[in-house]
Amino acid sequence: MSRPLPSVFDQALASAVRAPSPHNTQPWRFVVEHEVIQVWLDRERVLTVADPHRREARLACGAAAFNLQICLRANGLAVVVRLPDPAEPDLVAVVRLDGNQKATPGERKLAEAVFRRHTNRRPLLDKEVPPAVRSALKSAALSEGGQIEYLDASGRYTPVASLVRQAEALQADDRAFREEAAFWTHREEGSPDGVPNTAAGPPPLGHGLVSLRASHENEDLPSREYEREPLLGALLTRDKGPHAEVRAGMAMQRVLLTATAEGLATSFLSQPFETPWTRDSLDRLFAGLGQPHTLLRIGYGYPTRLTSRRPVGEVATHRTGPDVPAR
Ligand SMILES: Cc1cc2nc3c(=O)[nH]c(=O)nc-3n(C[C@H](O)[C@H](O)[C@H](O)COP(=O)(O)O)c2cc1C
Repeated sequence: MSRPLPSVFDQALASAVRAPSPHNTQPWRFVVEHEVIQVWLDRERVLTVADPHRREARLACGAAAFNLQICLRANGLAVVVRLPDPAEPDLVAVVRLDGNQKATPGERKLAEAVFRRHTNRRPLLDKEVPPAVRSALKSAALSEGGQIEYLDASGRYTPVASLVRQAEALQADDRAFREEAAFWTHREEGSPDGVPNTAAGPPPLGHGLVSLRASHENEDLPSREYEREPLLGALLTRDKGPHAEVRAGMAMQRVLLTATAEGLATSFLSQPFETPWTRDSLDRLFAGLGQPHTLLRIGYGYPTRLTSRRPVGEVATHRTGPDVPAR
């Protein structure tokens, strides 16, 4: 007997959970009802020390909503995405089917990249990102209402790199930060959440301009030299607040998928967003340009392993669903 085709919503949910999230916490839940998928923020899975205002969790939920949307679009379905209503702050996005619309090759390329994108914490190759690729990432952010600001081009590289190092040092000195990071990292490969050692990078040999998270180092690997000055892009939106954070998550995910499709490796440097003093300093540095949400390290590298996710059945509730087979 042949197995039934997965419904297009099954495929969209499988895409959604491949979104990045801080320490792979996966702070989301989905409710499928008729032609709608709701994306809810799961407060039980928010980092209470690093992310008390649930800012990073909203970025992750925005990225999951983008994956839903791009998967449905690649299946030839038009979608409308509604962002949060202040009356229901944990309902971060509502994705609704809106008839049919032929997928573009660009949309199909991004939908395929969902299952290859991953955070690469290893040293990058000594190879510049060409101007055309830098522009493609900028356009990706713009088309979702965000903005990528390359730090080398803006004169902000040195002060931002210094804030990353200072925030990393503050967190290393803070027991609550250390305990929270220890809980979510150094997991076995195949762990349904958290960061496994296979996704951690080797300890750095010497000091680069920026510090990756020490909690994401794999002490079992021999130390390696990292690139001294990686390409860094700050992701900004014009506005601030919960709505802007979900929008930023969607823009971030389009940038990450575009980077994956272009053969780039990416990782995050979130430490300065997580301690109040460095976050205020970042806000001041970008005043006039927009609200900074995250900092991406971008370059070429060798692909590393994908990390696992909790099964879709654990995070999605089906009230009903359309009977459209996935293409
Ligand atoms: C808002 C946000 C902040 C993150 N910050 C960091 C970070 O500072 N350092 C890091 O190595 N990874 C960071 N990550 C990446 C997550 O750890 C990663 O997405 C998660 O472990 C799942 O792995 P994957 O991206 O390879 O699928 C961040 C992800 C998100 C969405």
